[in-house]
Amino acid sequence: MKREQWKSQFGFLLAAVGSAIGLGNIWRFSYMAYSNGGGAFLIPYVIALLTAGVSLLILEFAIGHERIGSAPLAYAKIRHNWEWLGWWAVIFVMFGIELYYVVIIAWCLNFFLLSFDLGWGSDPNNFFFKEFLVLSDGPADIGQIRTPILASLIAVWALNWIIVYRGIRKGIEIANKIFMPLLFVLTAILVFWALSLDGAIDGIKAYLTPDFSKLQEPKVWIDAYSQIFFTLSLGFGIMIAYASYLPAKTNITKNAILTAVINSGYSLFAGFAVFSVLGFMASSQGKPISEVVTKSIGLAFVAYPQAVSIMPGGNLFGAIFFLSLVIAGISSSISIIEAFTSAAVDKFAIDRKKLVSGVCALGFLGSIIFTTQAGLFWLDIADHFLTHYGLVVVGIAECVLVGWFFNLDVLRKHVNKISSIHLGTWWNFLIKIFIPLVLGIILVGDLYSELKEPYEGYSWAALISIGIDWVLLTFIAAIVIAMRPWRTDYHKSGGRSED
Ligand code: PHE
Repeated sequence: MKREQWKSQFGFLLAAVGSAIGLGNIWRFSYMAYSNGGGAFLIPYVIALLTAGVSLLILEFAIGHERIGSAPLAYAKIRHNWEWLGWWAVIFVMFGIELYYVVIIAWCLNFFLLSFDLGWGSDPNNFFFKEFLVLSDGPADIGQIRTPILASLIAVWALNWIIVYRGIRKGIEIANKIFMPLLFVLTAILVFWALSLDGAIDGIKAYLTPDFSKLQEPKVWIDAYSQIFFTLSLGFGIMIAYASYLPAKTNITKNAILTAVINSGYSLFAGFAVFSVLGFMASSQGKPISEVVTKSIGLAFVAYPQAVSIMPGGNLFGAIFFLSLVIAGISSSISIIEAFTSAAVDKFAIDRKKLVSGVCALGFLGSIIFTTQAGLFWLDIADHFLTHYGLVVVGIAECVLVGWFFNLDVLRKHVNKISSIHLGTWWNFLIKIFIPLVLGIILVGDLYSELKEPYEGYSWAALISIGIDWVLLTFIAAIVIAMRPWRTDYHKSGGRSED
């Protein structure tokens, strides 16, 4: 069967950008910048982008394009007993990260609807935790499923299903061609609106005033590198799958650089809206900025609703904000489903449409646990372990595999043959030595703080049964699937440059 292809390079670029720009760009980046030295954070951030982000993105594009396959197929064609690595990436993303990522999108959908009549009332903090999530006492106390969340979860899964079901060209490409321009317009409205609010300038000052002394702290550098990996969707097998649908003639380096620049530019830009709103809130409540800044979930679901409630025309502002999150989220979540789908089609030759329906149905069932009253705890723990360990370990293994067990020059020459910007041998150095080293340091640092005290004060029992088990189970599933025989013969051919 002929592999589907993107209709245009531009469509591919938008899809890659769509995967990269997600919930993380809006709430993760601005908080990271603020807490790690404001404007000074841009220095480690850009260094991380140049030394690790772009090079690894080029590597993932090159693997998918040159080997013509989803992550497991591409890795199997690099070295046949490394197929598990590709499976692990796509399984922990699809049956790990995706399951709660869609639930956060569902919350955003609920809040989009609530925005119209400021349905969170006068105390958004109380509303979010006590009335919306009805949070239980701890991870072991599951409580009941929250019906409003379940309802919007169904809508979110339905949308994901329809898009991926329609395939690369008619589904993912078209969706991103609508979503990305829409997201940029909505974000621009938010930024300019927010900048016009009283006190906005104080927020921007807090966001960008450089504190260069922070650059001496190792944590700031670790945060910069982790943010780059997460935001570029690296180590998930997504960019490999997307690149496998490119035609032979493709400008790989240009696409990678553009993806990276647009993604980071978007984060920086959206940060202006986030911090102007915080500045506005601080000034209208007569508090210092540091008291109104919260991270991730608190920012979107507590601080923002508070600000929206006191802003003239706030309900429209809130609706645009939550709609932007939904759009940014869906364009990332479809990329996860695709990474897994393309892997299973490559190996088992399953009918794509049936497979997508099955995967979405399973995904929906799996994500229900996060709609219960303990959902937020589960989400927090699963996210911590999957993004800190799964992601980093896959990233290291990926560099070691292609750098040390394969002739990296095959990929470099392939890229150089078709791209406008050429890679020198410095790229080999970054992939073989520098990136695994940096990721190794992050891993050791994470493990150290993990063992020092249990994450966020959860019980070890909860951390092991939810977080660590999740990482291990997906790993075992990957090994088992990798051992199953191939139903196709794609793995028998080599890469594009050997043909
Ligand atoms: N890059 C996305 C973001 O910044 C995160 C993401 C995670 C995307 C997993 C795809 C898969 O939010």
